[in-house]
Amino acid sequence: MTGPAPQPKFRRDYQPPAYRIDHVDLHVDIGEGVTRIGSRLSIARDRAAAADAPLRLDGRAMQLQAIRIDGEPVPESDYSVDAEGLTLSAPPAAFELAIEVDVDPDANTALEGLYRSGRILCTQCEAEGFSRITYFPDRPDVMATYRTRIEADAGRYPVLLSNGDRVDHGTLPGGRHFAVYEDPFAKPCYLFAMVAGDLAEVADTYRTGSGRDVALRFYTDHGSENELGHALHSLKQAMAWDEKTYGLEYDLDTYMVVAVGSFNMGAMENKGLNIFNTSCVLASPDTATDGDYIRVRDVVAHEYFHNWTGNRVTCRDWFQLSLKESLTVFREQQFAADHGSPGVTRIEQVRMLRDIQFPEDAGPNAHPVRPESYIEMNNFYTITIYEKGAEIIRMLHVILGHEGFTRGVQHYLSEHDGGAVTIEDFVTALEIANGADLARFRLWYSQAGTPVVTVRDDYAGGRYRLTLSQHTPDTPGQTDKAPLHIPFGLGLIESDGRAVDLGERSLLTLEQPEQSWTFEGLSARPVPSLLRGFSAPVRVEYDHRTEDLAHLLTHDSDPVARWEAGQELALAAMRAAVSAYQAGEALPDPTALIEAVARLLGDPPADHELLAEMLTLPTERRLADQYAQFDVDAVVASHGHVKRQLAAALQTRVEDFLTGPSAGGYRFEPAEVGRRRLNAVALDYLAAGDASGIDALCLALYHDADNMTDRMAALQALRDRPGPARDEAMAAFAERGRGHALVLDKWFSLQATSRLPGAVARVAELDADPRFDATNPNRVRALVGSFARGNLPGFHQEDGAGYAWLAGHIRQLNELNPQIAARLVTPLAEWAQVAGPRGTAMREQLAGLAGASLSPDVYEMVTRALD
Ligand code: PHE
Ligand code: ZN
Repeated sequence: MTGPAPQPKFRRDYQPPAYRIDHVDLHVDIGEGVTRIGSRLSIARDRAAAADAPLRLDGRAMQLQAIRIDGEPVPESDYSVDAEGLTLSAPPAAFELAIEVDVDPDANTALEGLYRSGRILCTQCEAEGFSRITYFPDRPDVMATYRTRIEADAGRYPVLLSNGDRVDHGTLPGGRHFAVYEDPFAKPCYLFAMVAGDLAEVADTYRTGSGRDVALRFYTDHGSENELGHALHSLKQAMAWDEKTYGLEYDLDTYMVVAVGSFNMGAMENKGLNIFNTSCVLASPDTATDGDYIRVRDVVAHEYFHNWTGNRVTCRDWFQLSLKESLTVFREQQFAADHGSPGVTRIEQVRMLRDIQFPEDAGPNAHPVRPESYIEMNNFYTITIYEKGAEIIRMLHVILGHEGFTRGVQHYLSEHDGGAVTIEDFVTALEIANGADLARFRLWYSQAGTPVVTVRDDYAGGRYRLTLSQHTPDTPGQTDKAPLHIPFGLGLIESDGRAVDLGERSLLTLEQPEQSWTFEGLSARPVPSLLRGFSAPVRVEYDHRTEDLAHLLTHDSDPVARWEAGQELALAAMRAAVSAYQAGEALPDPTALIEAVARLLGDPPADHELLAEMLTLPTERRLADQYAQFDVDAVVASHGHVKRQLAAALQTRVEDFLTGPSAGGYRFEPAEVGRRRLNAVALDYLAAGDASGIDALCLALYHDADNMTDRMAALQALRDRPGPARDEAMAAFAERGRGHALVLDKWFSLQATSRLPGAVARVAELDADPRFDATNPNRVRALVGSFARGNLPGFHQEDGAGYAWLAGHIRQLNELNPQIAARLVTPLAEWAQVAGPRGTAMREQLAGLAGASLSPDVYEMVTRALD
C-alpha cells in the first residue's frame, strides 16, 4: 500500500493477449490455514505476437512454490516475480505451464480471490480476483475450459463445488475427500468459482422448453434452508421468461447457487455456480420485507440472465463492463415489469436514478458509461455503468421497437457466442439486425453528465408549439459536448382529461441542439405530459404551471408522468420553503400540493402500490439535487415542514389505508404488496403528523405483525419518536435479530437512520457494540452506509463529527477491505455540492485521508474527489 502512486490504465492502450490459454487444470488442496493451489495451463502464443514476446501472469497475495514448463522446473533466470505478478521472459510457442502456490483464505479480509465467509470457503473473482488464486493473465479476453479438483477435510467441508458438472468424487485417507468438476464452456477467469463448506442443500428440477432437465441446487448454512424457496421459485420464473422472451435456454445440466454472509456485492454470475450475498437470496415472511422479496427475485433473475449476456458472450476488457451489465440490468427490468406492477417498477428505477445516479453524474465521480481510464476496476461497478447503462439499452428498445430490439440482441448473441467483445460490437449488431444508423446514439456511451432538456411551449389560435433544446454540462475531463439522440415521450392532455391522439409524435426524436414541433387543430391549450415513461435519462426543465401538474396528477394515463407531476408539485412546495427559510421568513403552507393530493385521494388509481408511490414524497437527496450547492439546514427543515403539513391535512384520509395482518398469512403477490405498502405510507404520515395515539398504534401493529414488511412499517414510523413505545419495539426487534444476521442488519440500519438528536454519538456507540463487525460488508453497509447515505441531518451534523466518524471507518476499512472502503468515500466526495462550512469540513476529511497510506481503491476515490 505504500510506494509510488498507483497508475491509471487507459482504454486506448488495449492490446490483444500475446498468449492464449485454452485449458486450465486446477488442483485446490484445502489445508489447515494454508491452501495449496496447483494449476496446469495449456498455453499457445498468438500468431500475431512476436516470437520473443514475454508472458505476463498476474498474481497477488500468494507464495510461489513451484513452476514447471512441460514438466521441467523453470530456471530462475527465465522468470521474475514481483508484487503484482510473474513474467516468463521467452516461453516456447506452445507449452504446458504448471504452477503451485500457497494462499491463506483465513487472512483474506478483502473478500476477493479465495476467502472465508463464516464456515464456508468461497471465491470471488470479478473483476480481478482470480489472480489472488493463482498466477494467470487476469483479463476477460483470455478464455479457457476448466477442470477443477478440490480436496478437503470431509468433516469440515462435506460439500465441494465448482463450475460445470461434477465428473468424479471420492474419499481419501485421513478423513479427506475430493470432487472434480468440468466446465465445457470456455470462460474468462473472472467467472471461475469454487465453494467448500458444510452446507444445507435444497434441490429442484427445471425442464427447459426443449425438454432437458436441469438440476437446480441451492446451498446455505444449516438452519436457513427454509429461506430458499422464494429464490428457487424466482429462478424458475427467470429461466422460463428468458426462453419465452429471447429464446434463450440454459446450457448446462446443473445450476447452483450458494448463499454467503460475507460478500462485497449483491451476487455473482459465475458459470453454473452463482455465489450470492445472503441478502439477495434468503427470504422468509418473518425475515424479509416485500422490498427484499422483490430484490431477491430480481437479483436471482439478473445473475441467471448473465449466463447469456455476460458469460456466453463476455467483455473484451473491463472498459466494456457496461456491455454485460447494462444489457443484463435491462433484461432484469423487463422481467420485473412482467412480474409486478410495470408502472411502479419503472417509477422505482427512476427514483433510484434521480437520487443516486444523477448526483454521481454531477460530481467528481462522473464518468462515461464506457470509461476511458481507471486505476482500480472495482471502483467502476457504479450506478452509472449499471443503471444509466440500462437506460441507454432502454432507449435502444424504444427506438428500435420491441421486435427490432429483441432481434438485435439475438443477432448479437449468435454472432459473438463464445467471444469477448466490445460495446461497439453490440451496437453494430443492433444496427445490422435492424438496418438502423445509431451513429449519433453512440455518444451516450462516451459522454458523461446528465443532459438537460429545456422545454418551451406556446399556444395560439388552435396551434400548440413545443420547443426542446438540449445541453450536457461539463464533467471532469469533458467539455463542449455534442447533442445526443434523445427519444422523448410526449402526451398532450386536454382540459377534460382526454389525451390528444399524437400518433407517431408520442415519441419525439431530439437530436439537434434545438427542435420544434407544432400540433394543429386544438380547441384550447393542452397540458403537456413530458418525458413519458422516463424515455431518456435526462433532466427536464420546464416552467410547470401548478394547475397543469394538478391536472396531470389526476388525469395522466402514463404512470411515470403522473407520479412525476406529484413529485414536481412537492418539490415546488419544498423549494418555496427553502427560499423562505433562507430569507428568515415563516415557511409557506404547501396549499397547492395539499389540494392536489386531496383530489387524487378522491379518485385514486386502482393499483394500491401506484397510489402508495404517488403519496411518497421526493427524498431529501432529490430536493438537495435541485441546487448546485445545497443548504443542509434549509433542505432538512423544508422537507420536514412540507411532510408535516401534508400529513396533518391528510390524517383522516390515510387512516382508511391502515390494515391489520392479512387473513391467511403472508403472501408475496401484487395486491398484497400494494396493500402493505399503502399501510406503511399511512403509518408514516400519521407519525409525521403526530396523530394522537400513533405510538400505541405502532407498537400494537409491531406486536401483531405476522411478517417483516408490517413489522418494519411499524418500526419505521416509531424510528424518530422517542418514548416507551419506541424503546419496547426496538428492543423486541433487536431480540429477533439475535440468531439472524439480516434481521440484525435492519436493526442497525434503523438506529443509523434515526433522526433523534445525538446521531453521531449514537452510531459511534454502535461501533463498539459486539454485534458490529467491520469485516462483514452487510453490517458495515447497515451501520456506516445507512448513516452516511440515509441520515442527511445526522451525517451533516453541524460540528462535522459525522464526517470525521465516516473518515475513521474509511481508514479502518482501507486496511481490511479496500473495495468497501472506497465505496464509502462517495458521501464525502459530494463536498462541492454542500454549501457553507460543511462542504469545507468534508473536504478537510478527504485531505486528511489523502495524507494516509492508501490502497489503490481508496486512493483513486479520494484523489478524484479532491481534484
Ligand atoms: N457481476 C456482478 C453482477 O452484476 C456484480 C459483482 C461485481 C459481484 C464484482 C462481485 C464483484 O451481477
Ligand atoms: Zn450483473
